[in-house]
Amino acid sequence: MSEPTLPPIGMLAELTHRCPLQCPYCSNPVELLKANLEMTTESWRALFDQAADLGVLQVHLSGGEPTLRPDLEALVRQLAGRGVYTNLITAGVGMPEGRIDDLAAAGLDHVQISFQGAFAPTTERISNHRGAHEKKIATAGQVRAAGLPLTINAPVHRHNMDEVPAFIDLALELGAERLEIANVQYAGWALLNRNALMPDRASVERQVEVVRQAQEQLYGILTIDFVTPDYFAMYPKPCMGGWARDAFVVAPDGTVLPCHAAGTIPNLVFERFGERDLAEIWQHSPAFSAFRGTSWMGEPCRSCDRKEIDWGGCRCQAMAIAGNARETDPACIKSPIHARMAALIEEATATEDCKFLYRRIGTSYLAGR
Ligand code: SF4
Ligand code: FES
Repeated sequence: MSEPTLPPIGMLAELTHRCPLQCPYCSNPVELLKANLEMTTESWRALFDQAADLGVLQVHLSGGEPTLRPDLEALVRQLAGRGVYTNLITAGVGMPEGRIDDLAAAGLDHVQISFQGAFAPTTERISNHRGAHEKKIATAGQVRAAGLPLTINAPVHRHNMDEVPAFIDLALELGAERLEIANVQYAGWALLNRNALMPDRASVERQVEVVRQAQEQLYGILTIDFVTPDYFAMYPKPCMGGWARDAFVVAPDGTVLPCHAAGTIPNLVFERFGERDLAEIWQHSPAFSAFRGTSWMGEPCRSCDRKEIDWGGCRCQAMAIAGNARETDPACIKSPIHARMAALIEEATATEDCKFLYRRIGTSYLAGR
């Protein structure tokens, strides 16, 4: 018997793939969409209206860099008018004076700024953007001055994991309410850069301990969220909270996706907003139904007591590593190919060539090799 489809709670709106940074850990697809394919203001507004009708409570305005859209204020205003909580996910560079105030006036609820390093040289090297660190610090100041809550997002990997204590200091200095230490997930550009980004086990273990202690010491002062590294885990995370369970992603051209990497799964056909209403896509699109709930699962997930905790983990990771999205996520210790994760760590950490393949729009990714 198929499970009833509940309404979604969250939506990640990738307003654009354009971005001033070129981070090699980016989870955007390798084939980035150019500006001429982005949805118009009116289409985004229609989509947000339907999302609110459908029950969406939070919209994460993301990209790429969402502030490159000059209509961002109008989109925030519309969402706020519908009572939807808005979170701006920004790189925090190139923010003109007054923009954050304008967004706050439009009704923006929260800002998340990513830092590629806790120190300027690391941020510049990983983002491939001169002056990025200082610009981010200035944006964080504008966010606090506007009275908006601030989250610092620190995507961590081999090249900045030893800066985790300094990330914590930075978040405190900037007056953030929340720090997200997010071990990089290997999808999109990050998968292309896996060998260059993969940390070693000893660094991961040190990091886990540093974060655990800081969470204890800073309880009530700074909330530290920790996104654990799948390759070093015993069990997978419930990716997206479960496929098509309570959240979805919309790409810049209006393609509605169950997750940001779903396009890597062959044979799934994704529908575009405008060709069909959002509610119909959510409820009836075959791509959304493909892995919703538990009825698609084979063994060992089908008889596992965690199947409604992690919902079988990440379908895109199963695709990337097992070569089949229907397989158990190899991050799970019960997966018959779990040992492949350890082999991939070894292979990556033995790689001496740590050159990044920087994220770039409109170039073949092979060109950088
Ligand atoms: Fe999750 Fe499947 Fe592993 Fe059970 S067997 S823990 S449901 S991935
Ligand atoms: Fe697609 Fe995890 S990224 S299910």
